[in-house]
Amino acid sequence: MRGLAGKTAFLTGAAAGIGKATALRLAQEGMHVWVSDLDPRALESVSQDAARLSLQVGVVQADSTSEAEIRQAIQSVFDATGRLDVLVNNAGGSLHTPYRFADETDGDWDKVLNLNLMGAVRACRAALPLMQRSGAGRVINYGSKAGRYGSLIAGPNYAAAKGAIAALTRQLAMEYGEYGITVNCICPGVVLTPRTSGLWAERRSAEERERIVSEIPLRRHAGVEDIAGAVAFLASDDAAFITGVSLDVNGGQGMA
Ligand SMILES: NC(=O)c1ccc[n+]([C@@H]2O[C@H](COP(=O)([O-])OP(=O)(O)OC[C@H]3O[C@@H](n4cnc5c(N)ncnc54)[C@H](O)[C@@H]3O)[C@@H](O)[C@H]2O)c1
Repeated sequence: MRGLAGKTAFLTGAAAGIGKATALRLAQEGMHVWVSDLDPRALESVSQDAARLSLQVGVVQADSTSEAEIRQAIQSVFDATGRLDVLVNNAGGSLHTPYRFADETDGDWDKVLNLNLMGAVRACRAALPLMQRSGAGRVINYGSKAGRYGSLIAGPNYAAAKGAIAALTRQLAMEYGEYGITVNCICPGVVLTPRTSGLWAERRSAEERERIVSEIPLRRHAGVEDIAGAVAFLASDDAAFITGVSLDVNGGQGMA
């Protein structure tokens, strides 16, 4: 990918699943990559996987639901590298809250909105002024197929949070374009990570699972590397004139 080598990327909640694969991919592109996460053991596994691939990925423990922790983590990366070029707001998920609307409590809604939507808001609040100072930057948010076409495994709180992230993406793209900052949103369908594989098996029967995959035009779910590649593209110079976009990465399962 053009224009990534030597730049700094910070990814939230990225010590497992899609985030980890994306961190390693961006490091392979020559970026200085930093990963934050709540889980110290998962962060250790990122360092080990990076070392095995002869890559360097910095790790910092931070809870994306804490304004102070995420601000300090982003500032520490800026202080260490002197720049912040790319923010990937990966932290999120449906957090094992119920699928059915009637079963979701206020607590379930708070939890999911707090991590998915407010997590992105907090990280943007810390990162955008730093990007503004250098007159350039890329923010890549994580929406979902859930927020655009509905979800077969996550409930209304998650779909609403991801829809809100797409709206936030467009509004920030409008406000920060004049500073050379692009803001885009990736919208994956089901990506088979250990977490979603469990949900997928719990919430859909074997027959449903087979039928759903047979109806996806590309006849499979995404792998983490499919999403990592889309993030690398949006961070690259080739995506310099793309902003405010919600990019479906779902094998054609939902098309606008
Ligand atoms: N996996 C999918 O099918 C899928 C589909 C569409 C969108 N997404 C989105 O992609 C992103 C990554 O999903 P994933 O499936 O790879 O996630 P995952 O559950 O595999 O990994 C999430 C990581 O976030 C960390 N985390 C959880 N709470 C945190 C907090 N408060 N602060 C910091 N870190 C925290 C966990 O420790 C874990 O390492 C999420 O935003 C998710 O909503 C995933």
